[in-house]
Amino acid sequence: MNKKTLTILGPALVGLVVVLILLYSTRATDQGAELYAVHCQSCHMENGQGLRGVIPPVAKADYLSIHRAELACLIRYGAENPMVVNGKTYQQAMPGNEQLTETDIANVLNYVLKSWGNEEKPLSLQEVQNQLEACD
Ligand code: HEC
Repeated sequence: MNKKTLTILGPALVGLVVVLILLYSTRATDQGAELYAVHCQSCHMENGQGLRGVIPPVAKADYLSIHRAELACLIRYGAENPMVVNGKTYQQAMPGNEQLTETDIANVLNYVLKSWGNEEKPLSLQEVQNQLEACD
């Protein structure tokens, strides 16, 4: 390899490594989005708008702040009783997700809390753990 090839290849390799690191780190922070796509999107839809009259929206839902302290339990154990979201009553049951770890629950909730225009404060892992210990 001559010097010229090296001066071209050197920076190219550095660039490649940087791109790989960036790809890896965005993947890691997007875990909540992946969990949402697998476990939630079929009902609450890709953009969180739910299904009119049947599945409540998670986008711009007043429920997220009003019932903030119960969100982790809702994700783990689901819900059966009617609930009111943005002034509308929903009657369908939401299934639980007992296979999700505490970290998974924190990640998927934090994805919901900051997506589609939602601007809720994130939940720490500690808050999620405290909530789960206090589920009915
Ligand atoms: C099988 C459909 C279904 C799946 C899958 C599902 N949900 Fe729900 N979700 C519902 C229904 C129906 C309700 C309303 C339950 C009730 O009325 O008791 C609800 C309620 C909620 C609420 C409270 C009301 C609101 O809209 O803010 C949140 C938050 C929520 N779901 C988030 C999630 C998350 C996060 C996941 C994935 C881990 C998920 N849901 C998976 C159907 C589903």
